[in-house]
Amino acid sequence: MTIQTTHTAEVQELLNKVAGFHVEAGNERVKKIVHRFMSDVFQLIEDFDVTPEEFWSAVYYVGELGKNGEASLLAPGLGMDKYLDIRMDAQDEAAGLAGGTPRTIEGPLYVAGAPLADGFARMDDGTDETAEPMLIKGLVTDEDGKPLANAIVDIWHADSKGNYSYFDKSQSDFNLRRRIKTDEHGRYAARSIIPSGYGCPPEGSTQALLNQLGRHGQRPAHIHFFISAPGHKHLTTQINLAGDEFTYDDFAFATRDELVVEARAVEHSADGEKHGVSGPITEVEFNFQLVSTDKAELQARHERKRALENAAVA
Ligand code: DHB
Ligand code: FE
Repeated sequence: MTIQTTHTAEVQELLNKVAGFHVEAGNERVKKIVHRFMSDVFQLIEDFDVTPEEFWSAVYYVGELGKNGEASLLAPGLGMDKYLDIRMDAQDEAAGLAGGTPRTIEGPLYVAGAPLADGFARMDDGTDETAEPMLIKGLVTDEDGKPLANAIVDIWHADSKGNYSYFDKSQSDFNLRRRIKTDEHGRYAARSIIPSGYGCPPEGSTQALLNQLGRHGQRPAHIHFFISAPGHKHLTTQINLAGDEFTYDDFAFATRDELVVEARAVEHSADGEKHGVSGPITEVEFNFQLVSTDKAELQARHERKRALENAAVA
């Protein structure tokens, strides 16, 4: 028999007190959200007849998650980042601001303040000997296809082992992270290396929960971008390289059809030659379209805790 207590006056009174409804001090919005959240947790415990053992293992799970710093990794794994994107897409649609290159999640591995280059940057430090050279280039335009000069293309991606500099202390500072200002034709270009997909730490909290769900913790090979230009909506997005086992099976749900690109392996390319690679190279081309807006708050990335953000950078 299921024991039902959540509807009782005792439990309802407890929830009101938990949320601080009986005192003036505090934040009304936080009180209401905590009240709703704890009511839902109590209800869940009742509906699933959660045992004390299960409950305490969940509490210790959260403690571990904090210790190993994986909360921002678990969030996308549970579809939360994707859900926020769905909401922002719907908000844009309602405000008449839909269009342009689609957004997709930022992920937890951005580092602010990467070196800024004009038009072209070499992104890798040359030490990854197994890596294959990649040339990535394209245009930043407005929705009418008019090139945007001086747009900032902030690119970051993993190395050939799927690891990101700063978080992987074996890599040099800002390896595979650059900001590139588009030239007068709206063009950006970078020489780098082909990234590998990312896998959640196998012994971490995120993978532990994914295991219980029968899910893997892999992401396909991808490249992250922030694109910004005055008078235009800030864009947070990624491109996925086609043909990866996980292109359409990303644990973080970031793949969108419009963001999947063919990487072209060529024996020789004029662009490669120009940037010091005379032999085989993989070329990736992707153009970005920004939506115009005069709203300043939409022209900047939203605030969240990011590595080195707000630190003094030269
Ligand atoms: C996540 C996103 C990434 O881009 C990445 O490289 C690793 C993890 C994430 O959303 O959890
Ligand atoms: Fe990533």
